[in-house]
Amino acid sequence: MKKFGTDRDMLRKLNYELDYDIYDEYDDGNDMEASVGKLPLLDKPTGKPGFWHCSICTNNNDESLLSCDTCGVFRDSTGIIDNDSGEKVYGKSKDSRASVMARSLFALSPHQMPKPAVISDIFLAKEAVKSHEKGCIEAYFNDLQKTFTSPHCNHSINIAPFKFDTPSPDDIVSSGKNAARNFPKVPLGSTKASSNITGKKEIVNLLPVNEVSNSSSASSSKDNHIDVSESSNSRDYEDAPQIIADDLHRLKLDKNSKDNRSKKASRNVQYKPEKWMLSDQEQGISSQLNLAVVGHVDSGKSTLCGRLLHLLGRISKKQMHKNEKEAKEKGKGSFAYAWAMDESAEERQRGITMTVAVAYFDSKKFRVVLLDSPGHKDFVPNMISGATQADAAVLVVDASVGSFEAGMGGNSVGQTKEHAQLIRSFGVEQIIVAVNKMDLVEFSKERFDFIKLQLGLFLCSCKFKESSVAWIPLSAMENQNLVTTASDVRLSSWYQGFCLLDAIDSLKPPQRDVSKPLLLPICDVVISHFVGQVAVCGKLEFGALRASSKVLVMPSGDLATVQTIQRDYCPCTIAKAGDNVAVSLQGIDAGHVMPGGVLCHPDLPVTVASSLELKILVLDIVTPILVGSQVEIHIHHAKEAARVTKILSLLDQKSGKVSRNAPRILTARQSAIIEVALDGTVCVEEFSVCRALGRAFLRASGSTIAVGIVTRVLEQGS
Ligand code: GTP
Ligand code: MG
Repeated sequence: MKKFGTDRDMLRKLNYELDYDIYDEYDDGNDMEASVGKLPLLDKPTGKPGFWHCSICTNNNDESLLSCDTCGVFRDSTGIIDNDSGEKVYGKSKDSRASVMARSLFALSPHQMPKPAVISDIFLAKEAVKSHEKGCIEAYFNDLQKTFTSPHCNHSINIAPFKFDTPSPDDIVSSGKNAARNFPKVPLGSTKASSNITGKKEIVNLLPVNEVSNSSSASSSKDNHIDVSESSNSRDYEDAPQIIADDLHRLKLDKNSKDNRSKKASRNVQYKPEKWMLSDQEQGISSQLNLAVVGHVDSGKSTLCGRLLHLLGRISKKQMHKNEKEAKEKGKGSFAYAWAMDESAEERQRGITMTVAVAYFDSKKFRVVLLDSPGHKDFVPNMISGATQADAAVLVVDASVGSFEAGMGGNSVGQTKEHAQLIRSFGVEQIIVAVNKMDLVEFSKERFDFIKLQLGLFLCSCKFKESSVAWIPLSAMENQNLVTTASDVRLSSWYQGFCLLDAIDSLKPPQRDVSKPLLLPICDVVISHFVGQVAVCGKLEFGALRASSKVLVMPSGDLATVQTIQRDYCPCTIAKAGDNVAVSLQGIDAGHVMPGGVLCHPDLPVTVASSLELKILVLDIVTPILVGSQVEIHIHHAKEAARVTKILSLLDQKSGKVSRNAPRILTARQSAIIEVALDGTVCVEEFSVCRALGRAFLRASGSTIAVGIVTRVLEQGS
């Protein structure tokens, strides 16, 4: 089983308690800052009796008002930092694990059933190298069957080093990140030396993106609009909350980005795929479906995945028996199926998933790649990293009384809602809602209908079409409605629809674009210092790859040669857009390959940016976004600390037109155009050029505060 994505784990390794609430403080200027233990002073004496002065928008408010009349900010700071969500509290961890998507890809030989991967994650490996406490970390890779370890510590820990008065946990890891940035990056348009397959240096001429073509004709008017979702057929619910995807849909690209976009678009026009890329060599193999399994903590995602894999023969009886026995011994008997996905000692001990686990099974129609995401809110960044590859999603909700409500968040945002919003913003249109733990509510139809109504309203507000949402009542624990229709009469008496497996098979196959130039965002990196080889994992967004293909590794700008490709634990000759693959590379220094990077066509490097213009939709935040706000920006698998440098304009919710220039603050549910300066650089494209690299998420204080798209690259990094 493979796992990938994390940075929280790294922080936990540093044994820090993440108490984000203390960071939600700001002073009377525009700069956010935190002072631990101090409450923010949002109002100042005005000099006028009977009035208080809002330090955010400078309005003089009547004494009687609790919040600012103009900007709505609470006068009483306790209203800002109150985060009494009543959420489950989990203990700190000293030795948690971190990212390695690749490890299960390397962990299994083609003929093996899924089993716990034997490679630890990169960060753990790094830590091991640093501390000399851990030995070699092993995994199989294809026929090499070699042990992989991480000799270098050059991977970026792309996490925001928030610059507050008191060093945040993120600050602690920033030094690691800075070290990772020290490898040379190639300014676009430069001529650089790179290693070829034989290890010899050769000169590679990297054409600047803008010089690939000066034609602007390719930019169609369609490019000027962001086609995030189709809304016309959606069911209309009265008083539904503001619609995120709809708002994104209205976000139109401005003229400034037109030229750039035209040039980028023409890259695709000029590029001609080779014959082998288009040839249908691999007929007979059903299309791959990347299925993210998301939802609130403890809703039963891992149990559902484990049970499904077991029923489909992907987990042997022997392995299952072992899991059951060990889980019982540790007093965690109910987690036996979840242990198929939660493999690390810490995950098992704590009973929560921390990194995304990946498993495969074949349905009648698809090769399904299950991406079992963590539900706990501390691990949302990991969930983003995995689910960003999803073609469709299973949203697991816990039907039991109180648990469903917790996922919906009550006053705060529960992860049922947050995950649904994120998944929709990734462009996922098809979703299966697995209403799990129906056994705990006696398979009650009333409870199922209640959940369907409540959550249906919310999904509609996220712009999921009613026809693209399937609702399945089930019980993972009691094996009801998973791969066959329910046997329990309490359920079968009122539900005769699809079981989960049939619902998966009824999903529309995702579109694959092999005609565009190669693009593979790197989710994870595994390094073998024995054979001097590096392997990357991720989903091929565009184009195709085969052994001996030359690829450009960004942001380092080094050329490498594809040696082997693995898909679904099996070696394959060609991988095409949509495939989740592990690719071993030759002729590149392992330190120059990093998660968050991109493999691309040798002549068509992806943009590396240090400053971006974004169009965003602010989610349900309490603390407003200001110029100077520190955020963590997520773009595909890249994470980087950033600062809001400008709020250019506020957009009208309905028309999408500019309603106000240069507003001072952004509050919940507002759309806006902003500029952000990144602490480092990220591989990125404008949304109109490449959706996968053009979606951005802003996070702060442990929550997603805005979703959006990249409208312009303001500064290219070097
Ligand atoms: P995170 O990954 O931490 O977000 O949790 P999860 O959603 O993967 O939940 P997990 O599969 O770890 O299950 C949490 C608990 O719910 C375990 O004790 C399971 O046994 C229990 N559980 C899962 N499915 C069912 C079900 O259908 N019925 C009942 N009664 N319990 C279930
Ligand atoms: Mg889990």
